[in-house]
Parts: sequence; C-alpha cells; structure tokens
Amino acid sequence: MSIRFGGVLAVDNMSLDVEPHEIVGLIGPNGAGKTTFINCLSGAYVPQSGKATWKEADLLGRQPHELIRRGVVRTFQNVASLHDLTVLDVVKLGQAVRHGNPMRQLRDMLRSERARDAELIRTILQPLRLAEVAHQPIQSLSYGMRKAVDLARALAAQPQILLLDEPVAGLTAQEGAMMSRVIRDVRDRVGCAVVMVEHKMDVVNATCDRIVVMASGARIFEGSAAQVQSDPSVRRVYLGEP
Ligand SMILES: Nc1ncnc2c1ncn2[C@@H]1O[C@H](COP(=O)(O)OP(=O)(O)O)[C@@H](O)[C@H]1O
Ligand SMILES: [Mg+2]
Repeated sequence: MSIRFGGVLAVDNMSLDVEPHEIVGLIGPNGAGKTTFINCLSGAYVPQSGKATWKEADLLGRQPHELIRRGVVRTFQNVASLHDLTVLDVVKLGQAVRHGNPMRQLRDMLRSERARDAELIRTILQPLRLAEVAHQPIQSLSYGMRKAVDLARALAAQPQILLLDEPVAGLTAQEGAMMSRVIRDVRDRVGCAVVMVEHKMDVVNATCDRIVVMASGARIFEGSAAQVQSDPSVRRVYLGEP
C-alpha cells in the first residue's frame, strides 16, 4: 500500500499480514506512517495504490461503516470526549454502527430496555473494569478510562480485525499493564486479530505475538521482541542509534 500527501510519501509500499487470532505490534519512529496506514485500512483515507483483503473481501476504498460491518474496527490515538454521552451510550454507538442505520439504531437503543443494557455491561464493560462507570458521562472520566471506553466501543462492533492506534499512550504504567492484559484477554475471548500500533516497548513485548517495524512509510523488519531489540537496522531507525 502507498499513499502520498503532496510531496510526502507517508506510506511507501508498506505490507503487513495478520492471521486470525494473532496480535501484531506495529512500531516505528514518529512520522513513520503508522497512523496513516491504519487510516487507510479503516477507510479514513484511500491510498493511491495497493490492496488490502480480509477473508477474500477487498477493503480499500470502502467507507468506515462498511468496513465495520465486515469486522474491521479501530480505536483512536487521541480519544475524544463525546459531549455528555455516558460510557454505556458510547458502547451502544459502537454496536449501532455494526448493525445498520447508526442514528436510527442509536436512538432506538438509547431508549431501549434494561435487559440489553445489563447484557452490554456484563459482556463488554465488566471485562474492561468499566461496569461501575457505565452511567457516568465520559467527560467525567480520566484519560486512561476514556481509552478503555474507546476500546469498549470497538468491541461492541464485534471486530474480526481490531486496529489499535496507541492504546497505551498517555496511560500510567499501571493502566498500561492492565490495557495489555485486557487486549490479550479480548483476543482470547473474541477471537479477533489485532494490529496494535504502540510506542511503549515493554507493552508491545508483553502483548504482541509478532512485531513489524515501520520507518519512512515502509516495513523494514519483522520478528519477535528479542529479534527486534537486537537487530542493528531497527536500532538505527527506531532507537536512534548510529
Ligand atoms: N492528512 C495528511 N495530510 C498531509 N500529511 C499527512 C497527513 N496524514 C499524515 N501525514 C504525514 O504522513 C507522515 C506519517 O504520519 P503518521 O502516519 O501520523 O505517522 P506515525 O503515526 O507513524 O507517527 C507524516 O509526515 C505526516 O505529516
Ligand atoms: Mg501515529
């Protein structure tokens, strides 16, 4: 896949494969093109050239909501605070986008029965330790908890491929370690594939089955945590060594 913005070749013939149930870490220096690559996969951008497939379906050039219905669901590097929605509202929004007309469904669901709320709280919020704040406006939560809410929204859309853009950025070490456990637990329970962009190497090493390194828009290395740490080309571009 390649995408250019004016003179900047943000993603340069990048390639990546992910198996069902696999967690792939995508690392690389700032400006490497990681977020842009995720933006292309999730339908925010249409790359000038390339191909992306999941279960034989073409992904590129589709709208984000179409991709979500095909199971390609993302979270965001910078989480927004969506006005006065509660945690549970946000999760319902994720579910509504999965199931059809988002606004109509959202309206119906926000009005809906306690039984469905209880189910979402039990299946989505409880495992992410968000059950107690289900009815709180997300504005009232810490940044770390809002990141978890963003993941909860994505899970409600029933992902087959979960694209996580820096799920641990801005979190404390303790919150980061918990997020890592949550992501592995999600993969085990939901059975989805995960592509996770992340800077914090301890979290990447603890979470990912395999690591792909990106620099200047391209893939430069792939391997285990130990291989990535000892490879001279990776150390040069990523760790800033000569
Ligand atoms: N919409 C855009 N318009 C112009 N340039 C962009 C746009 N999105 C990303 N870029 C550029 O693409 C490059 C890669 O950025 P990004 O994907 O955010 O990197 P990373 O997530 O690895 O830090 C950067 O040089 C960035 O300025
Ligand atoms: Mg980024």
